[in-house]
Amino acid sequence: MKILSVVGARPQFVKLAPIVHEAIRRGVEHVTVHTGQHYDPMLSDVFFRDLEIPAPVAHLGVGSGSHGRQTGAMLSAMDGVFERERPDWVLVYGDTNSTIAAALAAVKLHLPVAHLEAGLRSFNRRMPEEHNRVLTDHVADLLFAPTRVAMTHLAREGLASRSLMVGDVMTDVLYRVRERVASVIPSMMDEEQIRPGEYFVATIHRAESTDDQDRLRSIVASLASLDLPVVLPAHPRLVARAAEVGINLSDGALRLRPPLSYPELVAVVMHARGVITDSGGLQKEAFLLGTPCTTVRTETEWVETIELGWNELVEPGADLVRSATRARPAPTDEAPYGDGRAAFRVIDSLLNHSSL
Ligand code: UD1
Repeated sequence: MKILSVVGARPQFVKLAPIVHEAIRRGVEHVTVHTGQHYDPMLSDVFFRDLEIPAPVAHLGVGSGSHGRQTGAMLSAMDGVFERERPDWVLVYGDTNSTIAAALAAVKLHLPVAHLEAGLRSFNRRMPEEHNRVLTDHVADLLFAPTRVAMTHLAREGLASRSLMVGDVMTDVLYRVRERVASVIPSMMDEEQIRPGEYFVATIHRAESTDDQDRLRSIVASLASLDLPVVLPAHPRLVARAAEVGINLSDGALRLRPPLSYPELVAVVMHARGVITDSGGLQKEAFLLGTPCTTVRTETEWVETIELGWNELVEPGADLVRSATRARPAPTDEAPYGDGRAAFRVIDSLLNHSSL
């Protein structure tokens, strides 16, 4: 059996790692196609290197563009690769433009498609990710849900018979990397002269945060006003938008940094007083590492982090500052994101469905 994974954006490289390693361990043929959605080395190459992911068999080199142009370019570039590789399964990840493009390219060629991280919903139809995930779930043949809540969404949309709860592959990779970095104090902390428990980590990259000038100004001002240093590993989009409208990303408490590698991110979050973010994955990573999170959004797909008291949804301004500086939540024994063996179940299921 041959599995072909399509990835293109930073969080997808992280999710790919445990799948590739499990496929190799079980002797299953696996190849990767990189769409090129993320092309900066710090958003792409370092993840392949640090997570020991074999090089892709094809790089589509699509790069940035409007959503339509970017998705369309991927779709047409994928055709030839799929025809050449003829996989038994095309595996797509998460909710980016690379995900929907790969799912569509595969169904048009009658190739079976499996969607990893299926069933997540924000119910915010202004988010490009929401269109991508809903459409991908409805064209895919096999849906791997990370949580019980995701399974409920799939059932409500009539997709229960194609769905399987496997847990979250990000737990798999996080647990492995956490062990590797547990005793290491990242060099970045030395450079910035910050001590464990005495700084925040913030990431802001989502279009809803960066493309509205007033909102971005207000988020940055709130972060800059915090009473501990705020490490800000910045996505290129944040740097570009801030420069366009004259927002200073080094103001007050802010410590502007280049994007972090995955092991660095895990270490930096593990030792932080708190995380402030608009990212999806980071809310969950903070939870799994026992670091309180403040999310600058109006909704989240990872509702368990909120219900268990480890995450809060806030507006920029006083609300953000109050949330970031709140007391540590009570510890929890709940494990809503699985046991770190999601990739094992994914490969198992693909092997069992090899004649679909
Ligand atoms: C994409 C995903 C988002 C995911 C995020 C992770 C979609 C719709 N969005 O958002 O769900 O959370 O990846 O990071 O697929 N850019 C660079 N270098 C790069 C990549 C992007 O400079 O390597 C800049 C470009 O100016 C580009 C902008 O960032 O226009 C946005 O990039 P894009 O890939 O379109 O979306 P992300 O914001 O990264």
